[in-house]
Amino acid sequence: MAQNTLIVSNWKMNLNLINSRKLISKLKILKIPKNIKNIVCPQYLLIPHISDLIKSSQIILGAQDCHFEEKGAFTGDSSILLIKEYGCKYVIIGHSERRQYHNEDNSEIKKKIKISIKNNIIPIVCVGESFLHRQNKSYLNFIYKQLDECIPKKMKQLVIAYEPIWAIGSGLTPTFDDITEVKESCKNFLNKTKKINDVKFLYGGSVNSRNFFEIKDKCKVDGALIGGASLLEKEITNVLKGDF
Ligand code: PGA
Repeated sequence: MAQNTLIVSNWKMNLNLINSRKLISKLKILKIPKNIKNIVCPQYLLIPHISDLIKSSQIILGAQDCHFEEKGAFTGDSSILLIKEYGCKYVIIGHSERRQYHNEDNSEIKKKIKISIKNNIIPIVCVGESFLHRQNKSYLNFIYKQLDECIPKKMKQLVIAYEPIWAIGSGLTPTFDDITEVKESCKNFLNKTKKINDVKFLYGGSVNSRNFFEIKDKCKVDGALIGGASLLEKEITNVLKGDF
């Protein structure tokens, strides 16, 4: 049986009520292979709206973040319990933009992963190096540290998204060999240190309908986390209905 491929749309802080409805209406009528999971992650305020629109469709809802506590005095944050109530099945955790603009560190990310697992929401854990780490060849050690400090013990399955910070929104992508090296290294590391054998490995960073299929084919990744191109109907539909 064909392996599942996860296509995760990270809309970030984009799209309003009208243009998100337009995009969802196109995605809803798209015929896509059964093994493709079309996961859409809108900003918080859009979640109730999108949750309504995707009823009885193949689209799966995800969130872009969650707090590490279920409730409490955390002004401006949103709870995993509400994310669950609105039917989200996935949550992106540890995106480099959260790490950069909200000072999230590995220990906070670990708590977020724990609370999402407790609530049966699958975390998509983001890791990835800066350009400097890539240049001075410390990228693998940097990613190992992220995995070591973020991933809780006793996880059986894991979805990770490798997103080199320098590739996000830049139009640059690593070579196929680079992506494959990080994929194999992460899987070995997680197997050895955390005893996790079932790892889904996504690639993210300037993915579009022109480069995705080659990345998928050459690097044997399990899917992609897509930012900018996920906002464009033609781009995302071409990825979703593509030749898997
Ligand atoms: P991008 O963003 O596809 O626009 O590079 C990816 C991401 O940040 O998840």
